[in-house]
Amino acid sequence: MKRIGVFTSGGDAPGMNACIRAVVRGACYHGIEVFGIRRGYSGMIAGDVYKMESHSVSNIVQRGGTILKSARSKEFMTPEGRRKAYDNLQSLGIEGLIAIGGNGTFTGAMIFGNEYGIPTVGAPGTIDNDLYGTDYTIGFDTAVNTALDAIDRIRDTASSHDRIFFIEVMGRDSGYIAIQSGIAGGAELVMVPEVLTPISQVVDTLKQGWSRSKSSSIIIVAEGDEEGSAQEVADKIKVQVDENADIRVTTLGHTQRGGTPSAYDRILASRLGLGALEGLIAGQKNVMAGIINNELVYTPFEDTIRLPKPINEDLLRMVKILSV
Ligand code: F6P
Repeated sequence: MKRIGVFTSGGDAPGMNACIRAVVRGACYHGIEVFGIRRGYSGMIAGDVYKMESHSVSNIVQRGGTILKSARSKEFMTPEGRRKAYDNLQSLGIEGLIAIGGNGTFTGAMIFGNEYGIPTVGAPGTIDNDLYGTDYTIGFDTAVNTALDAIDRIRDTASSHDRIFFIEVMGRDSGYIAIQSGIAGGAELVMVPEVLTPISQVVDTLKQGWSRSKSSSIIIVAEGDEEGSAQEVADKIKVQVDENADIRVTTLGHTQRGGTPSAYDRILASRLGLGALEGLIAGQKNVMAGIINNELVYTPFEDTIRLPKPINEDLLRMVKILSV
């Protein structure tokens, strides 16, 4: 393999730049030409591609976001869009791809690989940590720490004013950020999409706290929770508990997607970027590089897309025990 392309796609995640850097520097080391594709599949279709050198990735290991930019391309979901992308790659002589992203990214890569045979190896980049085939995804650790920083600050003011706070964290289909930031932030309860927490349980938790003279409480709600957004949960609670209860809602939103990547994410991204590249060189295709029990492993896209990554429900039990 003489020439490859690298791109980031889907929601950005802190550490994606460290991953791009590892791919580019690894390619330079192995004597392979590497092209950066801007805005994911959109750039592949538009031919928005440039040759990257070692210096193209100088001074980015510490930066959040992605220098290659990211997008969710509707056109790539059509056969015509993928045809254009293939023609562009062909004309540039690109023989393999490194895709940095999440489920949607790998679904696109799998379909494209099956249609045109271009080998692709993925590196898992998403703050949600919802990908089967790796213990952690790039950006998750930073997002948890960003959420935790906000939770700690909110706890100060919650305690000063004897308030109940509902804090919404990201995780459309996944409770990983909610669980980790909730445990580390000493939350009274964590609500996640994977497990139904009925409103009655939230009410009970609050009442039990009051009976033990707790004056403030923090409830973490993952954005995809079945009972609704943090605001909706708070509205339901308001009518069921003491109407004088002082309730506030904070949605952390996209603050969790940006910021300086943690040391953990930079190291993980470097290992996964180089692992993806060396896998591609060694003949891997249509797989995602992941790290399980500290070992580099490759999992078929089909499995990363299809198989769920269950949360550890025992951690939810722990939240309950530790908040008595
Ligand atoms: O990609 C992860 C994620 O952060 C989800 O948790 C969230 O629902 C989604 O991205 C929001 O993405 P966007 O605002 O880019 O559509």
